[in-house]
Amino acid sequence: MADALDNATYEAIDVDALTEDQARAELARLAELLDGANTAYHTEDAPVMSDAEYDALKRRNMAIEERFPAMKRGDSPTDQVGAAPAEGFGKITHAVRMMSLANAFDDEDVREFDRSVRKYLGAPGEIAYTAEPKIDGLSLSLRYELGKLVSAATRGDGQIGENVTANARTIDDIPQEIIGAPDILEVRGEVYMSHADFEALNARHAERGGKTFANPRNAAAGSLRQLDSEITRARPLKFFAYAWGEISEPLSDTQMGAIQRLAALGFQINPLAERFSEIDDLLAHYRKIESQRATLGYDIDGVVYKVDNLELQRRLGFRSTTPRWAIAHKFPAELAWTRLEAIDIQVGRTGALSPVARLTPVTVGGVVVSNATLHNEDYIKGLDSRGEEIRGGKDIRVGDWVQVYRAGDVIPKVADVDLSKRAADSTPYVFPTTCPECGSEAIREEGDAVRRCSGGLICPAQAVEKLKHLVSRGAFDIEGLGAKQVEQFYKDGWIKEPADIFDLKENFGPGKLQQLKNREGWGEKSALNLFDAIDARRDIPLAKLIFGLGIRHVGDSSANLLASHYGTWAAFEAAMTSMTIGAGEAWEDLLSIDGVGEVMATSLVTAFHQDAERESIAKLVERLRPIEAEKPKNDSPVSGKTVVFTGTLEKMTRSEAKARAEALGAKVSGSVSAKTDIVVAGPGAGSKEKKARELGIALLDEDGWLALIGDA
Ligand code: IVH
Repeated sequence: MADALDNATYEAIDVDALTEDQARAELARLAELLDGANTAYHTEDAPVMSDAEYDALKRRNMAIEERFPAMKRGDSPTDQVGAAPAEGFGKITHAVRMMSLANAFDDEDVREFDRSVRKYLGAPGEIAYTAEPKIDGLSLSLRYELGKLVSAATRGDGQIGENVTANARTIDDIPQEIIGAPDILEVRGEVYMSHADFEALNARHAERGGKTFANPRNAAAGSLRQLDSEITRARPLKFFAYAWGEISEPLSDTQMGAIQRLAALGFQINPLAERFSEIDDLLAHYRKIESQRATLGYDIDGVVYKVDNLELQRRLGFRSTTPRWAIAHKFPAELAWTRLEAIDIQVGRTGALSPVARLTPVTVGGVVVSNATLHNEDYIKGLDSRGEEIRGGKDIRVGDWVQVYRAGDVIPKVADVDLSKRAADSTPYVFPTTCPECGSEAIREEGDAVRRCSGGLICPAQAVEKLKHLVSRGAFDIEGLGAKQVEQFYKDGWIKEPADIFDLKENFGPGKLQQLKNREGWGEKSALNLFDAIDARRDIPLAKLIFGLGIRHVGDSSANLLASHYGTWAAFEAAMTSMTIGAGEAWEDLLSIDGVGEVMATSLVTAFHQDAERESIAKLVERLRPIEAEKPKNDSPVSGKTVVFTGTLEKMTRSEAKARAEALGAKVSGSVSAKTDIVVAGPGAGSKEKKARELGIALLDEDGWLALIGDA
């Protein structure tokens, strides 16, 4: 059991070599990692991994699911697009799901895409495709009814987005009224910011000592998601239309025709979109767009190919999150060489020691890079997580010439090292075995790629990171108390642990006020506002509280699952403190939650069994009034029931079916057991249908299910 704790235990094992238990744990780990990455990218506009890394993890997850289909999780990353919408905006359920795109990384992937299209359609002769730039912004769905703009929503998780209508109305490229359009028309496209506007905006912010944006995509996202639409108005956002959602009548019978129709209705469409019948011509167009990339004046990160004929698009349909009729051909990562000046070690919330390369600043793809990640100590040594050589076994040393790359909107990485430029007297880097922040021993458990500080809450770095996590957007989200303020207050000794935030007001004497006032941006009024904001968060939804604790492996969607399972803080806490790892009813009950695996469960129980941690949590909760989580709705015929979908669903995608079932209060599980209430079996259902019969579980076909939930 002990090794279930290690983040990277099974990371090192090839998919083909995983045992069932390892595969299950690995799927849990990947779900957690990808969920965190999604939230960071979509909800917080602060990516934590590169697109390439993300894609690799997603592919590994899919490969494991392919090998062990029965283990596919209810919250499988394969079925997720983006992240749930951020708090603060109203929600809009998309009439037609907003999809993502599958990726191609080289010419062969594109040819394979063409082959798969032909195969699916049964070799239909000539197929034309459109090719257009993939805009690096954020997608937006605009709904027009009788020619009037009625709503605008971000993608969110594909199903439900944020209502940003007021903000969208401030964008010049988005018409408020269109003439001659179908009665219902959802126009989809990308909101982006041009390079020139981005630079001017950052210059304005820098002048005022304000925050600057890392890149145009973040600037566009940050600008569109302003709660005050007057701020959005002042930001120069643009919009390209390239797709549509619900429509009351077709726009055209081809993709190209539909886009041109959108142009005729007053939308901006990308001038580089063209149609070709030969793959070689598509690829030539890709290279042409790539050669113009630097001078386009806005960020693009690839070229999107789409089957032109809309009837064929309809026949091809969708996989769980991506259309079969389109693919994004990504541009390769951008590279540069520079000198590695130093290696710093950062200590994270869970104690992980992460090496960071400090570089002589260098421009990589238009962005000045001075820091890059070095992952972990093995990576520096030239080894991967399996102990096998990478970069031909070359290690990385301070003073080396290193190759830095960034793929799109991500943390840059050190990819390679030039040994011919290495100084004769250079010495290998020695990774610290004590925490640079608190001096505690830094331990690397067997099978873990990461060395961790064992100091727990006595480690100031862990304590600060935990506090920052607590006040972050997905957790307590206290207005006026961001990462910067937390760091400052920690340094001042005003807050040392989460509970102290809620004692700030009480402990706040005139001396402290004076100290605050001496600092830029603080006055009596802002201090009072801060106390109000803190007070307002004493009533905290259970899921946000659980997420805010910052327990390893517990991301926001897991926190939601835990909250709706236990309902109240008292029930959750009692379960966590009373159970033992690996056995007993409470343990089984925790694992019965679809989406909670052994790795997360172990991490949770361990946290509540460490005295310091448990006391710190208790002290925090004493100051709060946790809001009970909504129990699943019980007014639907399937509420509280466990449902398994198997076989092919013909009227809806798996993820639609799952989302709909969950919206009705059902729990969707990936495998049939005695706890299953209903199995919905489509054509091609196999062992699960058989098992349902054996166990005497209610068996429905798709129509039967739709009739049961009243959707027929
Ligand atoms: S088509 C059903 N076309 O890329 C597919 N998407 O990685 C609808 N994107 O979510 C998308 N430029 O935000 C399409 N020319 C383009 C695009 C584009 C950028 C974005 C879009 C999508 C994401 C997928």
